[in-house]
Amino acid sequence: MKFNLNSASGVKVFPLSIEAYEKSSYFDRMKNLFNAKSGEVFPNFVNGDLELLLGLGKEKEISTQEIIKAFYSLGKAANEYKISALSIDVSVLSSYFPSIIEGLYQSKYRNEKYLSDRKEQVLLDINFTNAPNSAQNTIDMLESIMEGVFLARNLINEPAMYLYPETLAQRALDKLEPAGVKVEILNKKDIEELGMEAFLSVAKGSAKEPKLIIMTYKGDEKNSHVTGLVGKGLTYDSGGYCIKPPSGMKTMHSDMGGAGTVIGAIYSIAKSKLKCNITGVVAACENMISGDAYKTGDIIGSMSGKTIEIDNTDAEGRVTLADSLYYTATKLGVNEIIDLATLTGACVVALGDVATGAITNNQLLLDKLVESGNDCGEPIWQLPSFPEYKELIKSSVADLKNSGGRYGGTITAGLFLQEFVNELPWVHLDIAGTSFLEKPRGYLPLGATGFGVKTLFNYFAK
Ligand code: BES
Ligand code: MN
Ligand code: ZN
Repeated sequence: MKFNLNSASGVKVFPLSIEAYEKSSYFDRMKNLFNAKSGEVFPNFVNGDLELLLGLGKEKEISTQEIIKAFYSLGKAANEYKISALSIDVSVLSSYFPSIIEGLYQSKYRNEKYLSDRKEQVLLDINFTNAPNSAQNTIDMLESIMEGVFLARNLINEPAMYLYPETLAQRALDKLEPAGVKVEILNKKDIEELGMEAFLSVAKGSAKEPKLIIMTYKGDEKNSHVTGLVGKGLTYDSGGYCIKPPSGMKTMHSDMGGAGTVIGAIYSIAKSKLKCNITGVVAACENMISGDAYKTGDIIGSMSGKTIEIDNTDAEGRVTLADSLYYTATKLGVNEIIDLATLTGACVVALGDVATGAITNNQLLLDKLVESGNDCGEPIWQLPSFPEYKELIKSSVADLKNSGGRYGGTITAGLFLQEFVNELPWVHLDIAGTSFLEKPRGYLPLGATGFGVKTLFNYFAK
């Protein structure tokens, strides 16, 4: 899909609010056929020429999110109608130009790598007239963002038989190094030398070797401020000996959603050459069952020195994050940390697949992220972290236990992580619900959404 400026060829598109439609000459002829509801697309023939009417809904309900959805529908419909080029006059919608680009780009996403019969992308050229002055910059930026979103989705949708720690690390390297990001991959021996006993305990039950992936982007050499981005990297989560039921296990190849998001975001940011410094860290492994797997009742060490009682082998994400967070906080010179993790089913119960749950020790940092998310349709909802909740993860035989039981499950998981950030400003985003959808919603596809890539991009672009 290519976006071209100042060309008027292609099938003409008429974006119409309900009010504009009712005042237009179309209304009398077409009121029984087209209502101009948001996202409604109507193919109209004038003297044998096809044009598309695109509904934008009620004027006062038009928003960036509604425009993204409407132009997503337009892109889908144009492809169904086998239209290869569109011509869109954006003069009245110029303030929504970024959303127009995003919506059309979103319509292109397919998860069809393993289908024999793939849907062809027919719509290739989008020609704009009367685009704003900044249009080319906007197009370039949105393309970088969306490539990162699609990269995250593709990584997260990939079956675990193909995407395991080694191949995840390789794909991060293949994508990020050409974009100017340094990628280091540490193997099991290196991880042992770092003393990451917690991470290694989770990885032990798998035949696949764990990898620690470190990604360094220096986009602002003059500034010493560095943000650490840490992603949960479980390339498969069977639950271990606390095995998941089949229904809960089926999509657990997506348990590296945090890692996919971190990789996708760093890709977008590097492609756009944003002025910021980021160090991304992913502890990648599988949570499996074998004669050597970790067990409940085990008391394991961690890089921080804190000991952890394993209360539930399915609460593995926080155990791997204990070491990746501590490593990020103490060895990489970062000033603040944001972690993203498909951490708890409790978060899905609380917030569904609509909002991401957040826990923080720094309100200012979280407020900035919430704002960045709100600007792009990625809502983040803060959960409380009252000290009483900490009681739930106390153990009588170790410094901490890895599960606080069913009550406040997202909060206790977050508070467990907080023990390993060395008091740096930190936000934890639980994307268990938002990272992967059971059915499509709006412009978000079934499966991986790439939730978080846009929020992080906005955060660093500010
Ligand atoms: N990866 C899961 C959380 C999850 C559940 C992500 C559903 C996406 C969709 C995590 O490792 C897990 O199993 N958490 C347990 C924690 C419990 C044992 C304390 C959970 O949520 O049940
Ligand atoms: Mn689990
Ligand atoms: Zn998990």
